[in-house]
Amino acid sequence: MTDRTAEHYERVAADYDEHWSYDPDYVRRFADAITDSLRLTSSDAIADVGCGTGLYTRRIAETVRPTRPILCVDPVPAMLERLPRQSDLQPLVAGAEDLATGVVPLPDGDRLDAVVMKESIHHVGDRRTTLDGLAGLLSRHGRMLVVMLPRTIDHPLFREAHERFAQLQPETSEIVETLRASGLRTSVSYRTFHTTIDRQRYVRLLEARYLSVLGEFSEDELREGIAQFRHAYRDEPVLRFDEHFAFVKGWVAPG
Ligand SMILES: C[S@@+](CC[C@H](N)C(=O)[O-])C[C@H]1O[C@@H](n2cnc3c(N)ncnc32)[C@H](O)[C@@H]1O
Repeated sequence: MTDRTAEHYERVAADYDEHWSYDPDYVRRFADAITDSLRLTSSDAIADVGCGTGLYTRRIAETVRPTRPILCVDPVPAMLERLPRQSDLQPLVAGAEDLATGVVPLPDGDRLDAVVMKESIHHVGDRRTTLDGLAGLLSRHGRMLVVMLPRTIDHPLFREAHERFAQLQPETSEIVETLRASGLRTSVSYRTFHTTIDRQRYVRLLEARYLSVLGEFSEDELREGIAQFRHAYRDEPVLRFDEHFAFVKGWVAPG
């Protein structure tokens, strides 16, 4: 994780949930899609790597009711501090790389049945080594889910933000290949989440740099980008756009 990424999440941590939970149904549907995709059960040892504030993890916990706490892993303490203090969520300050290489061991030394990485893979430095290391932590029933946006997204951003996003975002195929090279069976599916948001509210999200790519711009550049956005969407008081997420799944081959 770069210093810029750490600073970005330290800055947005306090308001992160407010920005993302303007539609509670969105969060619930998303968390359910993760639960279904991984077929999570109460007896699974689960880790959410790059869990942030645990906005989705806590919904997963509500549905799955795990007998062991879900391990909530994130390298930015300010994000993890927003995690509700409840017995089914166990915070761990660590990057995916630390867990994968054993620099930070799994707290109970056990293996993991399920690893969730939702919108955190683009922050991981050495993705091959890290995903390989995480795959090595899986039990024989183990599965891993990487949820990620494609390089081209429909969010109503300004042009430079779209370009920068495409530069930073890994290809879905790279993640599939990497999981496969780690010995996992793989599959990819795509899920579309529809978003409707008031334009003024979206301006506030842009101002707050709600997507980490917006942290790449100086104050002046962001102001200029928001002016571009205001002009482009001047006739649309309500914005509607689709988010097409790739759900890349890897699982330990039986036998
Ligand atoms: C876009 S947020 C997603 C948070 C959460 N998964 C969600 O969907 O609400 C990305 C998260 O990845 C975390 N992160 C950054 N670098 C990371 C790394 N090397 N390993 C794991 N997580 C990382 C950030 O601190 C941040 O909380």
